[in-house]
Amino acid sequence: MADSDSEEIAEAVADVRRHVEWLRSTGQKFVLADRSAPRATAAPAPKPAAAPPPPPPAPAAPRAQATLFSEPPKAPSTGGSRRTLEEIRAELGDCKRCKLCSGRTNIVFGVGNPKAELVFVGEGPGADEDAQGIPFVGKAGQLLTKMIEAMGFTRDEVYICNVVKCRPPGNRNPEPDEIEACEPFLKAQIDSIRPKAIVTLGKFAAQTLLRDSTPITRMRGNWRTYEGVPLMPTFHPAYLLRSPGEKKLAWADLKQVMKMFGKEPAKREEGE
Ligand code: URA
Repeated sequence: MADSDSEEIAEAVADVRRHVEWLRSTGQKFVLADRSAPRATAAPAPKPAAAPPPPPPAPAAPRAQATLFSEPPKAPSTGGSRRTLEEIRAELGDCKRCKLCSGRTNIVFGVGNPKAELVFVGEGPGADEDAQGIPFVGKAGQLLTKMIEAMGFTRDEVYICNVVKCRPPGNRNPEPDEIEACEPFLKAQIDSIRPKAIVTLGKFAAQTLLRDSTPITRMRGNWRTYEGVPLMPTFHPAYLLRSPGEKKLAWADLKQVMKMFGKEPAKREEGE
């Protein structure tokens, strides 16, 4: 073998080693894609003798990478690879990542158009949603459907999901550890859909996505951005059912979203 050949092999092996170390340092798992393929490490790396040290590897992927590694990282929190909603749901699996799993009937992942331009994010499933596995199907859900339709959309056109995917017992507020366990899946859902706008319903959705503990009464009605996506915080429909006087404020918030989509509020009949 010519000296230049063995130097090149040694360099390739060193590249692969450095890449494997880097993969390990990022916590990634990897597999050998083809066990029958000749393995670069099979040849003993000759000492470079008196040759000058090899130049540092180019920032591009090492040469042997394509044949050695075939599985991209899949953790939802890495944010690197965009996945389909089906893949994200599959990763959630029969989730036991937090204590809410013990009381749930169904995981309530999300519903609607995987290519929606508008995403609504609520807090967490209630009893009706837990029973059916679909978000916002109870009384608050019926109001949300009316709000969506008043905006000139249908439920099928938008996407609806929650911060936590399992029902908190007795409809209590979701707790920080539960939000933390579920949040990567919400983020992955939004990353997968890439909507033009997000409407958060109530304080938990706004505070979780915006990492902002400002009360919802002060946050609502003001455009924010989540990962570059315009986000409008508004009241939760369950709150609007308890405080119908606040509906006009929520409607003002939704009208701002409609404006962004070039939608006009429907003309109301006198007395309606
Ligand atoms: N409230 C929510 O926040 N989400 C639902 O799915 C139902 C009620």
